[in-house]
Amino acid sequence: MKKNILITGGAGFIGCHVVQLFVQKYPEYHIINLDCLTYAGNLENLSEIENSKNYTFEKVNILDVEALTSVFEKHQITDVIHLAAESHVDRSITDPLAFVKTNIIGTVNLLNVAKSYWKNLENHLFYHVSTDEVYGSLDHGGFFTETTPYDPQSPYSASKAASDHFVRAYSNTYKLKTVITNCSNNYGPNQFPEKLIPLCINNIKNNRPLPVYGKGENIRDWLYVVDHARAIDMVFHNGKSGETYNIGGFNEWMNIDIVKLLCQKMDGKLGREKGTSEKLITYVKDRAGHDLRYAIDASKIQKELGWEPSLQFEEGISKTIEWYLENETWLDNVTSGNYQKYYQDHYGK
Ligand code: NAD
Ligand code: DAU
Repeated sequence: MKKNILITGGAGFIGCHVVQLFVQKYPEYHIINLDCLTYAGNLENLSEIENSKNYTFEKVNILDVEALTSVFEKHQITDVIHLAAESHVDRSITDPLAFVKTNIIGTVNLLNVAKSYWKNLENHLFYHVSTDEVYGSLDHGGFFTETTPYDPQSPYSASKAASDHFVRAYSNTYKLKTVITNCSNNYGPNQFPEKLIPLCINNIKNNRPLPVYGKGENIRDWLYVVDHARAIDMVFHNGKSGETYNIGGFNEWMNIDIVKLLCQKMDGKLGREKGTSEKLITYVKDRAGHDLRYAIDASKIQKELGWEPSLQFEEGISKTIEWYLENETWLDNVTSGNYQKYYQDHYGK
């Protein structure tokens, strides 16, 4: 059976890398990118593949069941890779309901449409892309594994945890073939500059303060976005139905150390005197309920599917900085208009 794969959220940061990989690597598949283009969705992310014969874009909101059903019928969707979501923790603190709508109701809509459209559920896969934040926060020891109990702490992670539970419930109750991956923090080209790394790159470039929450001692495990896309490719093709795979970079960093690394690298690239950008570091009010540490044990996907991160962090960070410096128009476009209002409301002047 020919595969017509629906990728949701394909105009966003991770989604655009997944769409690009699938369109280029699998010319025999038809890739349908479904995205309603929120502030985080951007078709400029897909300019390299937008004219490919095996690619179609559908501007649809996953809250619109009728439109979702039409897309399944029109393209005879065989499989789903679901990435569409509200993804920013800070926004979930100010507007939790938006996260309930897209991340929970939107996911259930998609499950329902897939379940009713697919006649023989055995032949189809519903792949749900999720986050390590569903496991809660770690102290300084230990790792999240696939069997760590869920303990979400923010409205964002609570909404993602609920969506994971619904996917498992559909697998158990209706025998839908599903797979879930829970990944750590991604960084790389095309990330919207509300997230720590691109926000700092943009602010260093423009000589603006670098807002570090609390003492900057929170820890995240960072993975280059293309390595996440490669993992999704492997799990989609070789993962076991009903399973969960954790994906992470084995790469823990304290926030303040990342911000300093960005400052050092950008001083070099911008020809500034050493130490110039570090003066921009500004400690600001901590995020409410800020999770201390995330760290993924990714040994299951390594052992069972042979996946490994391909890039070292310092190399990935250099490539990322270069991408943002070379794509000034992209950055200017996404930081004009509503971004200015978001920035002022969140960080003040
Ligand atoms: P993003 O915010 O950059 O992109 C989200 C995309 O979803 C955008 O293109 C947006 O337009 C689209 N979208 C949002 N609401 C929609 C709706 N109602 N209908 C249709 N489309 C909608 O997010 P991202 O960082 O690329 O994350 C993608 C997925 O990966 C999310 O499910 C997120 O939870 C998960 N994830 C992200 C990270 C990370 O570090 N960014 C890590 C692990 C997992
Ligand atoms: O762990 C996976 C998750 O990683 C994904 O599921 C989320 O979609 C993604 O947004 C990301 O969540 P974080 O909250 O960890 O990412 P963010 O870039 O917002 O923040 C990273 C760390 O930096 C976190 O400890 C908060 C801190 N931070 C963030 C911002 C935006 C700051 O100190 N200052 C800032 O201005």
